[in-house]
Amino acid sequence: MLKFFNRNKQNTIDELDINNLPKHIGIIMDGNGRWAKKRGLPRSAGHRAGAKVLEQITRDAGHLGIRFLTVYAFSTENWKRPSDEVEALMKLLSEYLDDYKRLIGDEDIRVKIIGSYDGLSEEIIAKIKNIEEQTKNNSAITLNIALNYGGRDEIVKACQKISEKIKDGSITPENVTEDMISENLYTNYMPDPDFIIRPSGEYRLSNFLLWQSAYSEFWYSNILWPDFTRDDLIKAIIDYQKRNRRYGGV
Ligand code: FPP
Repeated sequence: MLKFFNRNKQNTIDELDINNLPKHIGIIMDGNGRWAKKRGLPRSAGHRAGAKVLEQITRDAGHLGIRFLTVYAFSTENWKRPSDEVEALMKLLSEYLDDYKRLIGDEDIRVKIIGSYDGLSEEIIAKIKNIEEQTKNNSAITLNIALNYGGRDEIVKACQKISEKIKDGSITPENVTEDMISENLYTNYMPDPDFIIRPSGEYRLSNFLLWQSAYSEFWYSNILWPDFTRDDLIKAIIDYQKRNRRYGGV
């Protein structure tokens, strides 16, 4: 798929090892508010610019050969934001769910939403089901949009499902395994993220993929998400490729 990229001297892509790509990249799309503030715009304009960047980065990641991209769009804690910002974010997400071609164009991108339906409107839930159905046969890359997602909430829900099985006697507490927990998370159809990118100068996980990130490599940068480019993605992956992943071994 690298044919989509212009291989020339200035291009960082020459340094990329296509045989050592992360299978799954997570992105915390942070810095939209600050990007908007710097321009005297409302925060919602920053989120809109961030969504535009997501359109491009999803395609770029697919062309590079990344199989799974998970982006943090709205956390279970984001409900605490001012109501006009929550409304603007929900409206934006709703627009993209409706007009999913805007997000994926004619590309081979499967869209999945991970997170809780609790607190989401019936209308949004129907749109989530529709976009998942419409794109279910696409296979080059899966874009997982974390919407109303919280890592702790996800683990609690997995524990509840497993507890039901203990209650009905189908398993005993000793039968509970790490794999069983993974299988009961929203992300059970994908590998754990190899690499998590957080732009905007913050150095925290913010309840994103808590269980799944046990051995993820992290990449931080001061770039605000709406300014993030394909070149930044490539540079981040090149940096990832220099890491020595030991998974607790030597
Ligand atoms: C964090 O930046 C960003 C969010 C809470 C929302 C991210 C959502 C998008 C980019 C839209 C996604 C669209 C689709 C279609 C999935 P912040 O607001 O906390 O920024 P700040 O730290 O500068 O204030």
